Amino acid sequence: MAGMNLTLKVWRQNDAEDKGRIVEYKMSDISPDMSFLEMMDVLNEELIEKGDEPVAFDHDCREGICGMCSMYINGEPHGPEDLITTCQLHMRSFKDGDTIYIEPFRAAAFPVIKDLVVDRTAFDAIIQVGGYVSVNTSGNTQDANALPVPKADADAAFDAATCIGCGACVATCKNSSAMLFTSAKISHLALLPQGKVEAQERALNMVEKMDELGFGNCSNTGDCEVQCPKGISLENIALMNREFLGASLKSEK
Ligand code: SF4
Ligand code: FES
Repeated sequence: MAGMNLTLKVWRQNDAEDKGRIVEYKMSDISPDMSFLEMMDVLNEELIEKGDEPVAFDHDCREGICGMCSMYINGEPHGPEDLITTCQLHMRSFKDGDTIYIEPFRAAAFPVIKDLVVDRTAFDAIIQVGGYVSVNTSGNTQDANALPVPKADADAAFDAATCIGCGACVATCKNSSAMLFTSAKISHLALLPQGKVEAQERALNMVEKMDELGFGNCSNTGDCEVQCPKGISLENIALMNREFLGASLKSEK
């Protein structure tokens, strides 16, 4: 397949204070086998050669693990394909002559740092208030077979643990809610025996932190589940609500 000619409309913003604007770039002879980020690398090489400032974007693993490569592509977080991150997206998902809009994730709790890079440390703050177990598991580790875990629970915990903290759920939600992310972090611990000890307190602390940081409420649109590159299920939100309710009732006693 011959190289593609594309028009990129890229969000450029110098810093958090800058108003920002869309800037157009023409790209030619882009291989359909390139990844989306490789195409961005080509754009940046061309900009540097011309003496212009390259487009700032986050990336690290480039294999769908780290959750850094978060950006809006044609109005969808991580672009048009399901269940993949931006770094796993290939240019064959686009057609010769396409115009592609590339913007940062937008949410009050994720301020833009520069161009496509946003500050997602709010997620770290949510994890810090509860994303751990205090059960001592070092030095006195039990034989795994001494603590049987139902297969369904182990699978559900594992599925929840695949959340990479990319923020697509927040970016796509009209309320900028972090419910799917927070519930995934709560579920992957609450479903296992070691995590049950603090399950309710964890839910209370993490939900309170989420609200404090300016994430919106959940109004059950379900867009988060649709756009999540890891297929994190809405069922996690139901589990989080159960733990949170249990904790709230206890604290009222
Ligand atoms: S729940 Fe999905 S969309 Fe949200 S941060 Fe985790 S992996 Fe990303
Ligand atoms: S760069 Fe790590 S998930 Fe995309």
